[in-house]
Amino acid sequence: MGKAICVSGSKGGIGKTTIAINLALSLNNKGKNVILVDANFTSPNIGIYLGHPVTPKSIHEVLSNKISLEEAMYIHKSGLKLIPGNISLSSLSNVNPSRLKNKISSLKKDYDFVIIDSAAGLGKESLSALESSDETLIVLNPELPSVTEALKSIRVSQELGKGIAGVVVNRKRDKYCMTIQEIESMLEFPIISVIPEDEIIKKAQAERDLVVNLYPNSGAAKGYEKLSSYLLGESYKEAKENTVWEVFKEVLGLK
Ligand SMILES: Nc1ncnc2c1ncn2[C@@H]1O[C@H](COP(=O)(O)OP(=O)(O)OP(=O)(O)O)[C@@H](O)[C@H]1O
Ligand SMILES: [Mg+2]
Repeated sequence: MGKAICVSGSKGGIGKTTIAINLALSLNNKGKNVILVDANFTSPNIGIYLGHPVTPKSIHEVLSNKISLEEAMYIHKSGLKLIPGNISLSSLSNVNPSRLKNKISSLKKDYDFVIIDSAAGLGKESLSALESSDETLIVLNPELPSVTEALKSIRVSQELGKGIAGVVVNRKRDKYCMTIQEIESMLEFPIISVIPEDEIIKKAQAERDLVVNLYPNSGAAKGYEKLSSYLLGESYKEAKENTVWEVFKEVLGLK
């Protein structure tokens, strides 16, 4: 039986979807059987980010009892399996979010990890994503409004009896942001990965691809790799580029 992890954080636009897709691919690349599900029913972005903007077969049709989960599955060129949402407004009317939990349970029989991308806020649709998961992965930006929203997600997840998989700080900059220590002391949970502010994310998005796939040596990709290693209980070793000096040291027996 696999594990369902909901990527949440309550605040909008903090990088939940970007983390969900890159985390899912990183776990997939480490040999796990992974599926990514878009549970942001009002503003689904996974299909748009990964080059399937128009998806007549999607989680919306699954939750409207029109098609099966298998029929709604797409495979990105990176190898990542996904069930996107339908961006059309009309598809929303028949969606019943309370059906999500059963659908996720059946995916857990076939996959090691079901990564669920949640909507912002704590309304009906994001609650259905939290209720459908085993654990919540909390995402925040290093700013007070985002940290207070994260705190709400933690409390609601705990009230629903869900474990906290960990906290990820996204868009970390050098200036004008809270320190990791300040965030940890507010949340009373450890930060398991820090993703820097990185333009390469926009570049990968423009190419309808993932940073983990296209730019594995970027700071952001290393943050996602560290996150997936943590969730697998593995220690994370940063891959070092083989500079001339590194090769020289190896030849001289200095490393
Ligand atoms: N570490 C980062 N560095 C730079 N840009 C980033 C980073 N993470 C995410 N972004 C950008 O921030 C924007 C919002 O990201 P994303 O859609 O993942 O957020 P979200 O929390 O899922 O939003 P929503 O609440 O609307 O679903 C995107 O344009 C994305 O490219
Ligand atoms: Mg999103």
